[in-house]
Amino acid sequence: MRLFLDTASVDEIRAAAKLGVISGVTTNPSLWAKAGGGNYRDVVMEIAAIVDGPISAEATSREVDGLVEEARRIASWHPNVVVKIPIDEVGLEATSRLAKEGVKVNMTLIFSANQALLAAHVGATYVSPFVGRLDDVGQDGMIVVAEAVEIFDRYHLPAQVIAASLRHPRHVTQAAQAGAHIATVPYAILMAMLRHPLTDTGIERFLADAAKAEGQRLLEPRHDP
Ligand code: G3P
Repeated sequence: MRLFLDTASVDEIRAAAKLGVISGVTTNPSLWAKAGGGNYRDVVMEIAAIVDGPISAEATSREVDGLVEEARRIASWHPNVVVKIPIDEVGLEATSRLAKEGVKVNMTLIFSANQALLAAHVGATYVSPFVGRLDDVGQDGMIVVAEAVEIFDRYHLPAQVIAASLRHPRHVTQAAQAGAHIATVPYAILMAMLRHPLTDTGIERFLADAAKAEGQRLLEPRHDP
């Protein structure tokens, strides 16, 4: 399972990219606003200069021709840009047209396996079930990830499942177990995946013991030949 970073913050992307574990980035209008806004194309181009992998940028038009036009424009920003389109009648029709032109689409706001199936049928490259938002309303969001993976596998549908809206490190483990192709994680979750208090105390103890051992070596009598 590959890891994408779910943020529009260039600082977070730069910090995560240095670790070598991120192979793509997902943004949306909320993340763009949270990161301070500005020109969306400029933000995406800055991200593309840091991460050499798929970068999702969301289109917001609410009518098919306008959405197709907007998606073409967004896709033209950089070869790695994937256009994020919410699933509904407008999104499906636009995606079926865009997929035929070779525009890569990440179909977003997926909350059921049937929506995932429809997105795969119109040629979306990526399909993004929102796990945390389903958990928020008392459902098990990871079931949608597992069902979409199972269906795509069984029918050899090429769409890749991005487990999105992940809220804690356990979600990432569960997404991997469910067979998600990709998990997109906020920076805080990436850091939470990395850290463990026993690792911290282990490092401290090794450093203290290394210093102790070094002191013992210096106290050893010299054996001159
Ligand atoms: O890619 C965006 C998606 O992950 C949304 O997450 O936390 O707003 O539900 P959240």
